[in-house]
Amino acid sequence: MAAGIDDIAIYIPRLFIDAADFAKARGLDPEKLQKGLGVSQMAIVDTNQDPACLAANACLQIMQKNKLSPEDIGRLYVSTESSFDESKAMNSYVIGMLEQVYGQGAFEHCGGVETKFACVSGSYALYDNTNWIRAGEAEGKQALVVVSDIAKYDLGSSGEMTQGAGAVVMLLNDEPRLLAFDPKVTATSIKDEYDFYRPFGKETPIVHGQYSNLLYMIQVRKALEIYKKKALSSGLMKLEPGETILDHMDYLNMHLPYSNMGKKALAYLIRHEWRQLPRWKKLIQDMGMLEPVPKDPRGTIESVLGDEEFMAKDHEFTKLFTKTKEFQEVYESKLASSLIASKMIGNLYTASLYLGFRSCLEFEYQKGIDLNGKRVGFGSYGSGSSAMVFSGLIQPQYEEVVKNMNLEAELAPRRKLTLQEYEILHENKLSPEEPMLNTKREFILVDVNTTTESRGERRYIFNE
Ligand code: COA
Repeated sequence: MAAGIDDIAIYIPRLFIDAADFAKARGLDPEKLQKGLGVSQMAIVDTNQDPACLAANACLQIMQKNKLSPEDIGRLYVSTESSFDESKAMNSYVIGMLEQVYGQGAFEHCGGVETKFACVSGSYALYDNTNWIRAGEAEGKQALVVVSDIAKYDLGSSGEMTQGAGAVVMLLNDEPRLLAFDPKVTATSIKDEYDFYRPFGKETPIVHGQYSNLLYMIQVRKALEIYKKKALSSGLMKLEPGETILDHMDYLNMHLPYSNMGKKALAYLIRHEWRQLPRWKKLIQDMGMLEPVPKDPRGTIESVLGDEEFMAKDHEFTKLFTKTKEFQEVYESKLASSLIASKMIGNLYTASLYLGFRSCLEFEYQKGIDLNGKRVGFGSYGSGSSAMVFSGLIQPQYEEVVKNMNLEAELAPRRKLTLQEYEILHENKLSPEEPMLNTKREFILVDVNTTTESRGERRYIFNE
Protein backbone atom coordinates (compact mmCIF):
# COMPACT_ATOMS: atom_id res chain seq x y z
CA MET A 1 0.00 0.00 0.00
CA ALA A 2 1.29 3.49 -0.87
CA ALA A 3 1.62 5.90 2.01
CA GLY A 4 3.15 9.33 2.29
CA ILE A 5 2.70 13.08 2.39
CA ASP A 6 -0.51 14.38 0.83
CA ASP A 7 -0.14 18.03 1.79
CA ILE A 8 2.10 20.29 3.82
CA ALA A 9 1.45 23.62 5.60
CA ILE A 10 3.69 25.98 7.51
CA TYR A 11 3.23 28.55 10.23
CA ILE A 12 6.03 31.07 10.67
CA PRO A 13 5.88 33.78 13.39
CA ARG A 14 5.38 37.30 12.05
CA LEU A 15 8.44 38.84 13.72
CA PHE A 16 12.01 38.56 12.50
CA ILE A 17 15.49 39.93 12.93
CA ASP A 18 17.68 40.82 10.01
CA ALA A 19 21.09 39.16 9.82
CA ALA A 20 22.87 42.41 8.92
CA ASP A 21 21.39 44.29 11.93
CA PHE A 22 22.25 41.36 14.15
CA ALA A 23 25.84 41.15 12.91
CA LYS A 24 26.33 44.90 13.43
CA ALA A 25 25.07 44.68 17.02
CA ARG A 26 27.37 41.77 17.81
CA GLY A 27 30.43 43.27 16.09
CA LEU A 28 30.45 40.55 13.40
CA ASP A 29 31.01 40.81 9.68
CA PRO A 30 27.51 40.52 8.08
CA GLU A 31 29.12 38.36 5.38
CA LYS A 32 29.76 35.68 8.00
CA LEU A 33 26.01 35.25 8.46
CA GLN A 34 24.86 35.89 4.91
CA LYS A 35 27.60 34.10 2.98
CA GLY A 36 29.33 31.95 5.62
CA LEU A 37 26.21 30.48 7.22
CA GLY A 38 23.54 31.37 4.65
CA VAL A 39 21.35 33.22 7.16
CA SER A 40 19.51 36.38 6.01
CA GLN A 41 16.58 36.60 8.43
CA MET A 42 15.61 34.74 11.58
CA ALA A 43 11.95 34.34 12.64
CA ILE A 44 11.28 35.20 16.28
CA VAL A 45 8.21 34.34 18.38
CA ASP A 46 6.06 37.00 20.02
CA THR A 47 5.36 37.04 23.77
CA ASN A 48 2.03 35.25 23.24
CA GLN A 49 3.41 32.36 21.19
CA ASP A 50 4.91 29.02 22.15
CA PRO A 51 5.64 25.88 20.09
CA ALA A 52 2.14 24.51 20.79
CA CYS A 53 0.55 27.67 19.31
CA LEU A 54 2.77 27.45 16.23
CA ALA A 55 1.77 23.79 15.80
CA ALA A 56 -1.96 24.49 16.24
CA ASN A 57 -1.85 27.36 13.73
CA ALA A 58 -0.21 25.11 11.14
CA CYS A 59 -2.78 22.34 11.82
CA LEU A 60 -5.74 24.68 11.45
CA GLN A 61 -4.36 25.88 8.14
CA ILE A 62 -3.99 22.37 6.68
CA MET A 63 -7.43 21.32 7.96
CA GLN A 64 -9.15 24.37 6.46
CA LYS A 65 -7.26 24.20 3.18
CA ASN A 66 -8.25 20.54 2.65
CA LYS A 67 -11.75 20.97 4.12
CA LEU A 68 -10.96 18.21 6.62
CA SER A 69 -13.20 17.52 9.58
CA PRO A 70 -11.81 16.12 12.86
CA GLU A 71 -13.42 12.74 11.94
CA ASP A 72 -10.95 12.49 9.03
CA ILE A 73 -7.97 12.58 11.39
CA GLY A 74 -7.01 9.39 13.27
CA ARG A 75 -3.66 10.50 14.68
CA LEU A 76 -2.01 13.77 15.59
CA TYR A 77 1.68 13.65 16.52
CA VAL A 78 3.79 16.61 17.58
CA SER A 79 7.57 16.36 17.37
CA THR A 80 9.55 19.03 19.16
CA GLU A 81 12.64 19.74 21.22
CA SER A 82 11.11 22.92 22.67
CA SER A 83 8.87 21.08 25.11
CA PHE A 84 7.67 23.02 28.17
CA ASP A 85 6.23 20.14 30.22
CA GLU A 86 7.97 16.92 31.28
CA SER A 87 4.76 14.89 31.26
CA LYS A 88 1.86 16.47 29.38
CA ALA A 89 2.36 15.93 25.66
CA MET A 90 2.31 18.87 23.28
CA ASN A 91 -0.30 17.29 21.02
CA SER A 92 -2.83 17.53 23.88
CA TYR A 93 -2.47 21.34 23.89
CA VAL A 94 -2.85 21.36 20.11
CA ILE A 95 -6.02 19.23 20.32
CA GLY A 96 -7.35 21.63 22.97
CA MET A 97 -6.78 24.61 20.69
CA LEU A 98 -8.29 22.93 17.62
CA GLU A 99 -11.37 21.98 19.65
CA GLN A 100 -11.97 25.68 20.33
CA VAL A 101 -12.69 25.91 16.60
CA TYR A 102 -14.17 22.46 15.86
CA GLY A 103 -16.10 21.94 19.12
CA GLN A 104 -15.25 20.30 22.41
CA GLY A 105 -14.56 16.57 22.08
CA ALA A 106 -14.30 16.79 18.28
CA PHE A 107 -10.90 15.05 18.32
CA GLU A 108 -11.51 12.63 21.21
CA HIS A 109 -11.15 9.58 18.96
CA CYS A 110 -7.72 10.77 17.81
CA GLY A 111 -4.48 9.21 19.13
CA GLY A 112 -0.95 10.53 19.25
CA VAL A 113 2.07 11.45 21.32
CA GLU A 114 4.80 14.06 21.52
CA THR A 115 8.09 12.67 20.22
CA LYS A 116 11.58 13.78 21.19
CA PHE A 117 15.04 13.17 19.75
CA ALA A 118 16.39 16.66 19.00
CA CYS A 119 15.88 17.51 15.32
CA VAL A 120 15.32 13.95 14.06
CA SER A 121 12.16 13.07 16.02
CA GLY A 122 9.79 14.33 13.32
CA SER A 123 11.28 11.82 10.90
CA TYR A 124 10.63 8.98 13.35
CA ALA A 125 7.06 10.26 13.75
CA LEU A 126 6.58 10.33 9.98
CA TYR A 127 7.94 6.79 9.68
CA ASP A 128 5.69 5.44 12.47
CA ASN A 129 2.58 7.06 11.04
CA THR A 130 3.40 5.93 7.51
CA ASN A 131 3.62 2.38 8.88
CA TRP A 132 0.30 2.82 10.70
CA ILE A 133 -1.21 3.53 7.30
CA ARG A 134 0.69 0.74 5.53
CA ALA A 135 -0.42 -1.77 8.17
CA GLY A 136 -4.06 -1.01 7.36
CA GLU A 137 -4.68 0.36 10.88
CA ALA A 138 -5.85 3.77 9.68
CA GLU A 139 -9.31 2.55 8.55
CA GLY A 140 -9.73 5.39 6.11
CA LYS A 141 -8.45 8.06 8.46
CA GLN A 142 -5.41 10.27 7.94
CA ALA A 143 -2.56 11.35 10.20
CA LEU A 144 -1.20 14.79 11.02
CA VAL A 145 2.49 14.97 11.91
CA VAL A 146 3.55 18.40 13.16
CA VAL A 147 7.14 19.47 13.68
CA SER A 148 7.32 22.65 15.74
CA ASP A 149 10.24 24.40 17.40
CA ILE A 150 11.77 27.59 18.69
CA ALA A 151 15.53 27.58 18.12
CA LYS A 152 16.83 29.86 20.86
CA TYR A 153 20.42 30.19 22.03
CA ASP A 154 22.09 32.30 24.72
CA LEU A 155 22.66 35.99 23.94
CA GLY A 156 26.18 36.48 22.66
CA SER A 157 26.80 32.77 22.04
CA SER A 158 27.91 31.50 18.62
CA GLY A 159 24.59 29.64 18.31
CA GLU A 160 22.72 32.96 18.44
CA MET A 161 23.48 33.39 14.71
CA THR A 162 21.45 30.28 13.94
CA GLN A 163 18.06 30.95 15.58
CA GLY A 164 14.55 30.77 14.13
CA ALA A 165 11.04 29.49 14.87
CA GLY A 166 8.10 27.87 13.13
CA ALA A 167 5.98 24.78 12.55
CA VAL A 168 5.42 22.50 9.58
CA VAL A 169 2.53 20.06 9.44
CA MET A 170 2.23 17.12 7.08
CA LEU A 171 -0.98 15.30 6.20
CA LEU A 172 -0.33 11.59 5.65
CA ASN A 173 -2.62 9.17 3.88
CA ASP A 174 -2.72 6.19 1.48
CA GLU A 175 -3.29 8.29 -1.65
CA PRO A 176 -0.67 10.99 -1.16
CA ARG A 177 -0.62 13.73 -3.77
CA LEU A 178 2.91 14.93 -2.93
CA LEU A 179 5.23 12.07 -2.01
CA ALA A 180 4.95 8.31 -1.44
CA PHE A 181 7.71 6.94 0.82
CA ASP A 182 9.86 4.14 -0.60
CA PRO A 183 9.14 1.00 1.42
CA LYS A 184 11.76 -1.06 3.28
CA VAL A 185 14.70 1.31 2.83
CA THR A 186 14.43 3.66 5.81
CA ALA A 187 17.78 3.52 7.61
CA THR A 188 18.91 4.79 11.01
CA SER A 189 22.08 5.26 13.04
CA ILE A 190 22.37 6.08 16.74
CA LYS A 191 25.09 6.95 19.28
CA ASP A 192 25.07 8.31 22.83
CA GLU A 193 26.63 11.79 22.43
CA TYR A 194 26.64 15.27 24.01
CA ASP A 195 26.99 17.48 20.95
CA PHE A 196 23.86 19.52 21.75
CA TYR A 197 21.43 19.02 24.63
CA ARG A 198 19.12 20.99 26.91
CA PRO A 199 19.09 19.84 30.55
CA PHE A 200 15.79 19.99 32.54
CA GLY A 201 14.72 23.53 33.36
CA LYS A 202 17.17 25.22 30.97
CA GLU A 203 15.59 27.30 28.21
CA THR A 204 18.60 27.29 25.89
CA PRO A 205 20.79 24.37 24.82
CA ILE A 206 24.41 23.58 25.61
CA VAL A 207 25.98 23.22 22.17
CA HIS A 208 29.39 22.22 20.86
CA GLY A 209 28.80 23.57 17.37
CA GLN A 210 31.79 22.31 15.37
CA TYR A 211 31.62 18.90 17.07
CA SER A 212 27.92 18.71 16.27
CA ASN A 213 28.46 19.63 12.61
CA LEU A 214 30.97 16.82 12.15
CA LEU A 215 28.88 14.32 14.10
CA TYR A 216 25.85 15.19 11.96
CA MET A 217 27.75 14.34 8.79
CA ILE A 218 29.23 11.12 10.20
CA GLN A 219 25.87 9.88 11.51
CA VAL A 220 24.06 10.66 8.25
CA ARG A 221 26.83 8.94 6.29
CA LYS A 222 26.40 5.81 8.47
CA ALA A 223 22.65 5.82 7.89
CA LEU A 224 23.26 6.31 4.16
CA GLU A 225 25.46 3.18 4.13
CA ILE A 226 22.56 1.17 5.58
CA TYR A 227 20.09 2.81 3.20
CA LYS A 228 22.34 1.85 0.31
CA LYS A 229 22.40 -1.82 1.33
CA LYS A 230 18.62 -1.85 1.70
CA ALA A 231 18.01 -0.04 -1.59
CA LEU A 232 20.19 -2.51 -3.46
CA SER A 233 19.00 -5.68 -1.75
CA SER A 234 15.32 -4.72 -2.06
CA GLY A 235 15.81 -4.01 -5.77
CA LEU A 236 14.71 -0.37 -5.41
CA MET A 237 17.93 0.70 -7.10
CA LYS A 238 20.52 -0.97 -9.33
CA LEU A 239 23.97 0.51 -9.64
CA GLU A 240 25.79 0.41 -12.97
CA PRO A 241 29.61 0.43 -12.80
CA GLY A 242 30.87 3.87 -11.84
CA GLU A 243 27.56 4.94 -10.27
CA THR A 244 26.71 5.93 -6.70
CA ILE A 245 23.42 5.73 -4.88
CA LEU A 246 23.25 9.55 -4.94
CA ASP A 247 23.02 9.46 -8.75
CA HIS A 248 19.64 7.76 -8.25
CA MET A 249 18.22 10.56 -6.14
CA ASP A 250 16.88 13.55 -8.05
CA TYR A 251 16.74 15.73 -4.94
CA LEU A 252 18.49 15.66 -1.60
CA ASN A 253 16.90 17.36 1.38
CA MET A 254 19.14 17.72 4.41
CA HIS A 255 18.62 18.80 8.01
CA LEU A 256 19.32 22.55 8.07
CA PRO A 257 20.39 24.15 11.38
CA TYR A 258 21.45 26.91 8.96
CA SER A 259 21.18 26.76 5.20
CA ASN A 260 24.89 26.34 4.39
CA MET A 261 25.00 23.24 6.58
CA GLY A 262 23.06 21.54 3.77
CA LYS A 263 25.87 22.35 1.35
CA LYS A 264 28.53 21.19 3.81
CA ALA A 265 26.71 17.88 4.38
CA LEU A 266 26.19 17.37 0.66
CA ALA A 267 29.91 17.91 -0.02
CA TYR A 268 30.80 15.45 2.75
CA LEU A 269 28.44 12.74 1.46
CA ILE A 270 29.51 13.20 -2.15
CA ARG A 271 33.20 12.98 -1.25
CA HIS A 272 32.46 9.78 0.62
CA GLU A 273 30.45 8.30 -2.25
CA TRP A 274 32.66 9.41 -5.15
CA ARG A 275 36.01 8.50 -3.54
CA GLN A 276 35.92 4.94 -4.92
CA LEU A 277 34.71 5.89 -8.40
CA PRO A 278 36.71 6.61 -11.58
CA ARG A 279 35.24 10.16 -11.68
CA TRP A 280 37.13 10.98 -8.44
CA LYS A 281 40.59 10.43 -9.98
CA LYS A 282 39.82 12.89 -12.75
CA LEU A 283 38.41 15.41 -10.32
CA ILE A 284 41.47 15.25 -8.06
CA GLN A 285 43.67 15.78 -11.11
CA ASP A 286 41.63 18.81 -12.17
CA MET A 287 41.65 20.23 -8.65
CA GLY A 288 45.41 19.78 -8.33
CA MET A 289 45.18 18.86 -4.64
CA LEU A 290 45.16 15.47 -2.94
CA GLU A 291 42.43 14.78 -0.41
CA PRO A 292 44.04 15.27 3.04
CA VAL A 293 44.08 12.41 5.58
CA PRO A 294 44.01 12.91 9.39
CA LYS A 295 47.22 12.00 11.27
CA ASP A 296 45.41 9.72 13.74
CA PRO A 297 44.16 6.62 11.88
CA ARG A 298 41.41 6.01 14.52
CA GLY A 299 39.53 8.95 13.01
CA THR A 300 37.52 9.78 16.15
CA ILE A 301 35.74 13.15 16.12
CA GLU A 302 38.04 14.46 18.88
CA SER A 303 41.19 13.38 17.05
CA VAL A 304 39.96 14.84 13.76
CA LEU A 305 38.92 18.19 15.30
CA GLY A 306 42.17 18.31 17.34
CA ASP A 307 44.32 17.83 14.22
CA GLU A 308 44.63 21.50 13.28
CA GLU A 309 46.82 20.91 10.26
CA PHE A 310 44.36 18.37 8.85
CA MET A 311 41.37 20.62 9.60
CA ALA A 312 42.95 23.56 7.77
CA LYS A 313 43.87 21.40 4.75
CA ASP A 314 40.48 19.72 4.72
CA HIS A 315 38.78 23.10 4.80
CA GLU A 316 40.89 24.20 1.83
CA PHE A 317 40.10 20.96 -0.01
CA THR A 318 36.35 21.30 0.66
CA LYS A 319 36.37 24.89 -0.62
CA LEU A 320 38.16 23.79 -3.81
CA PHE A 321 35.85 20.81 -4.24
CA THR A 322 32.64 22.82 -3.80
CA LYS A 323 33.83 25.17 -6.57
CA THR A 324 34.23 22.36 -9.15
CA LYS A 325 31.71 22.21 -11.96
CA GLU A 326 30.91 18.58 -10.96
CA PHE A 327 29.90 19.58 -7.42
CA GLN A 328 28.13 22.73 -8.56
CA GLU A 329 26.00 20.72 -10.95
CA VAL A 330 24.78 18.40 -8.19
CA TYR A 331 24.36 21.29 -5.76
CA GLU A 332 22.28 23.41 -8.13
CA SER A 333 20.09 20.62 -9.44
CA LYS A 334 19.53 18.57 -6.25
CA LEU A 335 19.91 20.80 -3.20
CA ALA A 336 19.87 24.58 -3.80
CA SER A 337 16.08 25.07 -3.95
CA SER A 338 15.63 23.39 -0.56
CA LEU A 339 17.85 26.05 1.08
CA ILE A 340 15.88 29.15 0.04
CA ALA A 341 13.28 29.09 2.83
CA SER A 342 15.88 28.40 5.52
CA LYS A 343 17.81 31.57 4.55
CA MET A 344 14.64 33.63 5.05
CA ILE A 345 13.42 31.99 8.27
CA GLY A 346 16.38 30.43 10.08
CA ASN A 347 16.70 27.31 12.16
CA LEU A 348 13.49 25.38 12.92
CA TYR A 349 15.14 22.32 14.55
CA THR A 350 12.68 19.42 13.88
CA ALA A 351 10.90 21.41 11.19
CA SER A 352 13.98 22.52 9.26
CA LEU A 353 14.22 19.41 7.06
CA TYR A 354 10.54 19.64 6.11
CA LEU A 355 10.63 23.38 5.51
CA GLY A 356 13.48 22.46 3.15
CA PHE A 357 11.32 19.84 1.43
CA ARG A 358 8.56 22.38 0.91
CA SER A 359 11.06 24.92 -0.37
CA CYS A 360 12.45 22.32 -2.79
CA LEU A 361 8.97 21.60 -4.20
CA GLU A 362 8.01 25.26 -4.61
CA PHE A 363 11.22 26.49 -6.18
CA GLU A 364 11.84 23.49 -8.42
CA TYR A 365 8.27 23.78 -9.70
CA GLN A 366 8.90 27.47 -10.44
CA LYS A 367 11.78 26.42 -12.68
CA GLY A 368 9.19 24.65 -14.86
CA ILE A 369 10.54 21.16 -14.09
CA ASP A 370 8.10 18.24 -14.25
CA LEU A 371 8.46 16.76 -10.77
CA ASN A 372 6.32 13.68 -11.35
CA GLY A 373 8.25 10.52 -10.42
CA LYS A 374 11.31 12.36 -9.11
CA ARG A 375 12.98 10.68 -6.15
CA VAL A 376 13.66 12.78 -3.05
CA GLY A 377 16.27 11.56 -0.55
CA PHE A 378 16.13 12.84 3.03
CA GLY A 379 19.07 13.17 5.43
CA SER A 380 17.65 13.76 8.90
CA TYR A 381 19.84 14.38 11.97
CA GLY A 382 19.12 14.86 15.65
CA SER A 383 21.79 15.68 18.21
CA GLY A 384 22.40 13.35 21.05
CA SER A 385 22.50 11.60 18.44
CA SER A 386 20.65 9.80 15.66
CA ALA A 387 20.32 10.08 11.90
CA MET A 388 17.72 8.75 9.51
CA VAL A 389 17.99 8.40 5.74
CA PHE A 390 14.92 7.60 3.66
CA SER A 391 13.38 8.47 0.31
CA GLY A 392 10.17 8.83 -1.62
CA LEU A 393 8.74 9.47 -5.06
CA ILE A 394 6.88 12.63 -6.04
CA GLN A 395 3.38 11.63 -7.08
CA PRO A 396 1.43 12.43 -10.30
CA GLN A 397 -1.03 14.82 -8.54
CA TYR A 398 1.73 16.91 -6.95
CA GLU A 399 0.88 19.96 -9.09
CA GLU A 400 -2.54 20.36 -7.45
CA VAL A 401 -0.73 21.18 -4.20
CA VAL A 402 2.55 22.72 -5.33
CA LYS A 403 1.07 25.29 -7.73
CA ASN A 404 -0.44 27.16 -4.77
CA MET A 405 2.76 27.31 -2.72
CA ASN A 406 4.00 30.87 -2.27
CA LEU A 407 6.50 31.33 0.49
CA GLU A 408 6.97 35.02 -0.12
CA ALA A 409 3.25 35.75 0.17
CA GLU A 410 2.99 33.67 3.33
CA LEU A 411 5.87 35.57 4.92
CA ALA A 412 4.93 39.02 3.59
CA PRO A 413 3.11 40.45 6.63
CA ARG A 414 6.26 40.14 8.79
CA ARG A 415 7.65 42.89 11.01
CA LYS A 416 11.36 43.50 11.45
CA LEU A 417 12.41 43.84 15.08
CA THR A 418 15.04 46.30 16.28
CA LEU A 419 17.86 44.61 18.16
CA GLN A 420 16.58 46.21 21.36
CA GLU A 421 13.09 44.71 20.85
CA TYR A 422 14.64 41.34 20.01
CA GLU A 423 16.68 41.31 23.22
CA ILE A 424 13.61 42.24 25.30
CA LEU A 425 11.77 39.27 23.78
CA HIS A 426 14.79 36.99 24.12
CA GLU A 427 15.14 37.72 27.83
CA ASN A 428 11.39 37.12 28.43
CA LYS A 429 10.91 40.63 29.83
CA LEU A 430 7.31 40.88 28.59
CA SER A 431 4.27 38.79 29.49
CA PRO A 432 1.82 37.19 27.01
CA GLU A 433 -0.51 40.18 27.57
CA GLU A 434 2.12 42.49 26.08
CA PRO A 435 2.64 41.21 22.52
CA MET A 436 4.54 43.16 19.86
CA LEU A 437 1.83 42.34 17.30
CA ASN A 438 -1.93 42.15 17.43
CA THR A 439 -2.56 39.13 15.21
CA LYS A 440 -6.05 37.98 14.19
CA ARG A 441 -7.51 34.54 13.46
CA GLU A 442 -4.64 32.74 15.12
CA PHE A 443 -4.19 30.73 18.29
CA ILE A 444 -2.35 32.68 20.97
CA LEU A 445 -1.14 32.00 24.49
CA VAL A 446 -3.06 34.04 27.03
CA ASP A 447 -1.35 33.07 30.29
CA VAL A 448 0.66 30.49 32.19
CA ASN A 449 -0.60 29.77 35.70
CA THR A 450 1.84 30.44 38.55
CA THR A 451 -0.21 29.28 41.57
CA THR A 452 1.15 26.29 43.52
CA GLU A 453 -1.76 23.93 42.74
CA SER A 454 -2.02 24.73 39.00
CA ARG A 455 1.48 25.88 38.13
CA GLY A 456 2.26 25.58 34.42
CA GLU A 457 -1.34 25.36 33.19
CA ARG A 458 -1.53 27.19 29.89
CA ARG A 459 -4.55 29.01 28.53
CA TYR A 460 -4.91 29.64 24.80
CA ILE A 461 -7.56 31.37 22.71
CA PHE A 462 -8.35 31.66 19.03
CA ASN A 463 -8.02 35.40 18.48
CA GLU A 464 -11.11 36.26 16.36
N1 COA B 1 32.79 36.27 5.50
C1 COA B 1 32.33 35.17 4.90
N2 COA B 1 32.32 33.94 5.52
C2 COA B 1 32.77 33.87 6.79
C3 COA B 1 33.27 35.00 7.47
C4 COA B 1 33.28 36.26 6.77
N3 COA B 1 33.72 37.37 7.34
N4 COA B 1 33.65 34.62 8.71
C5 COA B 1 33.40 33.29 8.80
N5 COA B 1 32.87 32.84 7.65
C6 COA B 1 32.42 31.48 7.32
C7 COA B 1 33.36 30.40 7.84
O1 COA B 1 34.41 30.14 6.92
C8 COA B 1 32.40 29.23 7.96
O2 COA B 1 32.14 28.65 6.69
P1 COA B 1 32.61 27.16 6.36
O3 COA B 1 31.96 26.28 7.38
O4 COA B 1 32.12 26.93 4.99
O5 COA B 1 34.07 27.19 6.49
C9 COA B 1 31.10 29.88 8.41
O6 COA B 1 31.20 31.25 8.03
C10 COA B 1 30.85 29.80 9.90
O7 COA B 1 32.00 30.28 10.55
P2 COA B 1 32.57 29.53 11.82
O8 COA B 1 33.83 30.18 12.25
O9 COA B 1 32.58 28.06 11.58
O10 COA B 1 31.41 29.89 12.84
P3 COA B 1 31.31 29.65 14.39
O11 COA B 1 32.24 28.60 14.85
O12 COA B 1 31.42 30.97 15.06
O13 COA B 1 29.80 29.14 14.57
C11 COA B 1 28.21 27.35 14.29
C12 COA B 1 29.07 28.42 13.61
C13 COA B 1 27.25 26.79 13.26
C14 COA B 1 29.09 26.24 14.82
C15 COA B 1 27.41 28.00 15.47
O14 COA B 1 26.61 29.04 14.97
C16 COA B 1 26.51 27.00 16.19
O15 COA B 1 26.95 26.25 17.04
N6 COA B 1 25.20 26.99 15.87
C17 COA B 1 24.26 26.00 16.40
C18 COA B 1 24.15 24.89 15.40
C19 COA B 1 23.29 23.77 15.92
O16 COA B 1 22.23 24.03 16.40
N7 COA B 1 23.79 22.57 15.83
C20 COA B 1 23.08 21.42 16.40
C21 COA B 1 22.11 20.75 15.54
S1 COA B 1 22.73 20.10 14.03
